[in-house]
Formats: sequence, C-alpha cells, structure tokens
Amino acid sequence: MSPQLKAGVIGLGILGEQHVDFLHPQPEVAVTAVADIRTEVADRVGGRIGAFVYGDYDRMLKEQKLDIVVVATPDPLHRDPALAAIEAGVPNLIMEKPLATTLADARAIIDAAEKAGTRIFINFANRGSALDRATYYVIQQGLLGDVVYGDVHLDDNILVPTKMWGGRSREWGAGSSTAHFLLSHVTDFLRWVMAPADVSEVYAISQQKVLGFTPDLYDAFLTFDNEAKVRVRAEWIKHIDGLVEFAFYFAGAKGGLTYVKRPGFAEVDGWRANVSDSVTTEQLLAHQDVLMSQGINVRALVHRPSPTAGALKAGGGDVKRGLETFENPLDFWRVAQSFVDGILEDTLTPASWQGYGPLPSAIDGLRQTQIVAAIVESAETGRVVECAP
Ligand SMILES: NC(=O)c1ccc[n+]([C@@H]2O[C@H](COP(=O)([O-])OP(=O)(O)OC[C@H]3O[C@@H](n4cnc5c(N)ncnc54)[C@H](O)[C@@H]3O)[C@@H](O)[C@H]2O)c1
Repeated sequence: MSPQLKAGVIGLGILGEQHVDFLHPQPEVAVTAVADIRTEVADRVGGRIGAFVYGDYDRMLKEQKLDIVVVATPDPLHRDPALAAIEAGVPNLIMEKPLATTLADARAIIDAAEKAGTRIFINFANRGSALDRATYYVIQQGLLGDVVYGDVHLDDNILVPTKMWGGRSREWGAGSSTAHFLLSHVTDFLRWVMAPADVSEVYAISQQKVLGFTPDLYDAFLTFDNEAKVRVRAEWIKHIDGLVEFAFYFAGAKGGLTYVKRPGFAEVDGWRANVSDSVTTEQLLAHQDVLMSQGINVRALVHRPSPTAGALKAGGGDVKRGLETFENPLDFWRVAQSFVDGILEDTLTPASWQGYGPLPSAIDGLRQTQIVAAIVESAETGRVVECAP
C-alpha cells in the first residue's frame, strides 16, 4: 500500500532532520519534499530519502501537493513558512515549539489557519514520555489534592547557546532566549497538567551578565487562575557536563510530586508521588493498574516514613501511600506519533492519545506564546504582567 499522506519539512537543522527521520519510515507517510536555505543540507537530507529538494519553501509549496508540512526553522522564523503553507492550502501543520517569539506572529499564524481551516499541531514533546503522562494523571486525578505551588527548572549547558548551532549559534541565541526556547516547554507542560486552571499573571526577572547576545536566564512566578503559584526558571549559562537539567516539584494541599526528568550532578532521575491520605490502598492499586495499562511502569508504595535529619526527628510513623519509579523512559516522538494518528483519524484525540486531553494544538501555541511574552515583559519592566486567556 502506498503511503496516504505526503509530507514536506521546512528547515532541516537539528530538529527538522529528526522530523524527516521520524515521519518518512511511518507506513502512512512519505516525506516527498524538503526545503532549507542551506541548500547543501537540503541536498543531503532530501537525497537520502529521494525527496524533492528546495532552497525556497515557496517554490516547494507551489510545486508539491502536501498533506502535512513541518515547520522547523529557528525560533523567530516560524511565521513566514507557516503562513505560506496555510496559503498554499496545506491541511495539517506540525509546528516546532515555540509557536512564535512574538504575540503578533502567533496571532497571524492562528488567524490565517482559522480562516483556511488548517489544523495546527505544536510539537510540545515534553507531554509524551511515560512520566510526563504519569504526572498529568496524578494531578488530574486529584491524588495530591489541589496543587498550590510548584517549582520547575529546565536548564541547558552554556554550550547550547554558544556552540550547538556551530557558527550560527550567536545569531540563533540572539533571536531566542531561555524563555522562548526552554520555558515554552515548561509553560505548556504546566497548562496541560493544571488544566482547567490557566496562567493569569506573571512576575519575572532575568540576568544579563554573561552571554551578552541574549539573557543568561529567566526566573519567573506564574500565578494560575485557581491561585496556584509555580516558579519556573531556565538558564543558558550552566557549566555542567550534561546537556540539559530538568526537574519538577509540585506541592498539593494533600500530597507532593517530585519528577527529575534530566538529572543534574549528583542527582538521579526518578518520579515519586506521595498521595493524599484519603486515597486507600485499594484505590492506589487501581491507579497503579491504570498507569500500567498505559505503559507507565510505576509501583504502589505503602510504608511508614519517619523523617529524621541527624538528631532531628519530625514524628511520623503513620501509613503513607505513594507511587514511584526509577525507570525514566524518554520518548521524544510519542506526541508526534499521535499527531500522525490524529491526522489519519481526523481528531485531536486519536486512539493513541486517550486520557491526556486534546493533543497540543494552535490554542496551546498561542497561550504558550502569550505567557512567554508576559515573562519577557515582566523581566524588562519589573512589573507583574497579566496574561489571562
Ligand atoms: N520540540 C522540541 O523539544 C525541540 C527541541 C529542540 C529544538 N526545537 C525547535 O525546533 C526549531 C528548530 O531548531 P533547530 O535546533 O533544529 O535549529 P537549526 O538552526 O538547527 O535548524 C533550522 C533550519 O532552518 C533553516 N532555515 C532558516 N531559515 C529558513 C528559511 N527561510 N527557509 C528554509 N529553511 C530555513 C536553517 O538553515 C536550519 O537548517 C526551533 O524552533 C527550536 O526551538 C524543538
């Protein structure tokens, strides 16, 4: 059977080439065209799979009838290829995050897509790994009680903004920031797990002492419309051996969740939810069954912790229940796989994405862009910035 869907990929750098290698082997998809202004890169990637190769995406869109276009250009350059694909009548866009680096760009893309009836998926890949989905489940099921506070950091090695894009790194970093590149993931993740709560206002600081061409970091407090507050921070000046450090903590009124997705020095990855005392052992086992049925390998934990620190004791001894795992299978393409399923099934909730809300789409890209814009504005003005939906 020949593939039903023809895909084109615009921007064939680190992520774009990975999109080609993810999509092309899918039985229902063939990447039939690729475009990059670096024509030697386009020739190499397109040549590998026998796709039509273009230096100019406008020409590609004029000459090729495509069912899917992936936009994987650098952060500030998503608008023009997206608008061109929409205008060319492409029915499905897979946009790399962030949707845009300005609200004006995000609105232009979304308005055009709404008019044309184009479906837009945003590749918020950090919704897809098993423990991302376990975090969603635990919070959405209320196993922590209401989440009142959280603390998330997602940091890159300083080599990312200074070296990762070779000679283009400085320009690349200058067109983006840790707010756009990293906090786009974090803000989307938080909106997803905290839904229906959404961010209503932001207070942020940044530091600008080291890199010079882009802020060194952003450190922000997001207030949700249910009064939860979550601190989110992202650095581009870390002198570490790893590429990324990524960890979450959520304080619920009745429980807590720690998720170390990408450990830093002397940390281990792992995931642990200490659930509300109102969850019985039978209910805990039922939740474990649900998670295991979704391919998420967590163990139920019933024990009597007695916290101590040296000579200090804090009481305890009561039975506490939780779910935990030290398995941390990262699955960068889980969300994108469901995009393909969503296109084939004509829905934002395909069979492969049941139980996790709709797949990340235009509205999520718009909200992420709004929140990140508010973070940047707050850091620049020193004021709290409103950003209710
Ligand atoms: N989903 C994720 O977890 C994730 C991870 C990393 C990066 N990203 C995102 O993916 C996007 C691409 O990042 P990258 O690291 O691959 O960047 P990159 O610079 O390696 O690749 C971008 C490519 O776009 C090309 N390009 C630039 N302008 C063009 C134009 N007008 N027409 C055609 N091609 C053009 C460049 O030549 C380059 O090859 C960014 O938005 C980035 O934030 C997403």
